[in-house]
Amino acid sequence: MPFALLRSRPASRRKATLPGGALLAEGEARRVYLGGRLMIVAKVNGQFHAISALCTHWPEMIDPESLSGCEVRCPVHWATFDVRTGKATGGPTRKAVPVFPVTVNGDDLLIELPD
Ligand code: FES
Repeated sequence: MPFALLRSRPASRRKATLPGGALLAEGEARRVYLGGRLMIVAKVNGQFHAISALCTHWPEMIDPESLSGCEVRCPVHWATFDVRTGKATGGPTRKAVPVFPVTVNGDDLLIELPD
């Protein structure tokens, strides 16, 4: 197979199902372990979002119960992250957390994970 064809393949992704994930209430966030990853799943403005639960300052856990508006906070040094984009919005880190695309399938959420 020509090398050019190998390079043009899209990055492969797999989807993991979070049973009942679509039943999250507006403004609610939970920490879940799914597909080998710790993540925070949140519902903000009617949309579901999933980000890595690991702070990018040190490998500490971001607190899902800290969800305020669209931000969650790491309890160690108070870095904040936007659950919609993963961007660091305050505190000692500027590095974003990974974001995982989410789709709704009935009461479940399908969350795309990189391989
Ligand atoms: S470990 Fe999260 S802000 Fe420092």
